[in-house]
Amino acid sequence: MKRFALATASSLAVLAGTSVMAEPQAEVLHWWTSGGEAKSVAVLQEEFAANGGTWTDMPVAGGGGDAAMTALRARVLAGNAPTAVQLKGPAIQEWYEEGVLADISNVAEAEGWAEVLPASIAAHMQCEGTWCAAPVNVHRIDWIWANADILAANDIEMPTTWEEFNAAAEKLQAAGIIPLAHGGQAWQDATVFEAVALGIGGPEFFKKAFVDLDPETLTSDTMVQIFDQMRTLRGFVDENFSGRDWNLATAMVMNGEAAFQIMGDWAKGEFLAAGKVPGEDFLCGSTPGDGYLYNVDSFAMFDVDGDDKRAGQELLAKLIVAPKFQEVFNLNKGSIPARTDVALDKFDICAKISAEDMGASSANGSLLPSYAHGMALRGAQAGAITDVVTAHFNSDMSSADAVQQLADAVANSY
Ligand code: BGC
Repeated sequence: MKRFALATASSLAVLAGTSVMAEPQAEVLHWWTSGGEAKSVAVLQEEFAANGGTWTDMPVAGGGGDAAMTALRARVLAGNAPTAVQLKGPAIQEWYEEGVLADISNVAEAEGWAEVLPASIAAHMQCEGTWCAAPVNVHRIDWIWANADILAANDIEMPTTWEEFNAAAEKLQAAGIIPLAHGGQAWQDATVFEAVALGIGGPEFFKKAFVDLDPETLTSDTMVQIFDQMRTLRGFVDENFSGRDWNLATAMVMNGEAAFQIMGDWAKGEFLAAGKVPGEDFLCGSTPGDGYLYNVDSFAMFDVDGDDKRAGQELLAKLIVAPKFQEVFNLNKGSIPARTDVALDKFDICAKISAEDMGASSANGSLLPSYAHGMALRGAQAGAITDVVTAHFNSDMSSADAVQQLADAVANSY
């Protein structure tokens, strides 16, 4: 008995020794490189370091993360996956199916994630009943940002219908002001398109089109009207829009060069990082129409060798979902916490609107996943839609041709 007790004690010591010696390491792939984004990810780096972790940064610039995802694929194919990766939506399950994700259920269970995350968010983080990603936030896509002074000087209210938006834009254009700050990159075209689609089509339509990929909905008259509105918006952007990064478009609104931007609330992170105050310097309003398009940033851990890396993954997963981090990170990022138990006292009016609208949309069935930000569809289908949206926006393609191409592209994407 005594010998057994001794053996147990010494194996415990060995175990304890291993975990003490394994200093948490993580190479983290992400695409948070703009001013507001960099400030936000620094919060995670600091938390990780304060808890004994060593962070190796792997930022891949490019809004929306397309370039980051290409870099990830190259690393995994080379057999050298990063420890932790900013990954979201069905891409998490796609990577899981490739057999390359680590199971973080031990952290999720110890930390009680199931009790503090809304079921819809938790479902995105799970792979066949295990936890395979840690959620950071909820970004809303369907926002309009405006320069407060420009609107006041031109006697314009925040638009609540697309007709009002168009009328305001025409008035501004006549006054020599760029109505819409936009960056001509495919993912930004897609971001505007899905906000217009939700507004004109409504939540049911959006679900049929971009979640169910229903062919009749894709070629419907409503979809024609949506492309018509995209053509109208094309007339409101300046001639240098092509290829412009989203944060430079935000800067145009900030600096008074342009009146509006249609963009997810990481744009607010940019305004805040520049010291701008919501309600004074800039205004936020949801894009016209009902519903809420959500985009949840999350991190998945890849299957890597080494106790230090595994310790890094566990520490990172734990910190990401912890209430303190969810508060501080999201105050910087422009998003709201994924956890339901973080008080919003320190958050601004835009975040409070987001949280309230998300609750109402969740209750009435109009809370919908963003297709443009990889929450609704697998990569091939989302990519097929975006190719048509951007081809239409950058040419004189008719709306009728666009809807036909949309249905064909989706049909051929499987
Ligand atoms: C991400 C945001 C990011 C934005 C621009 C979105 O897809 O969810 O976190 O700020 O892209 O890079």
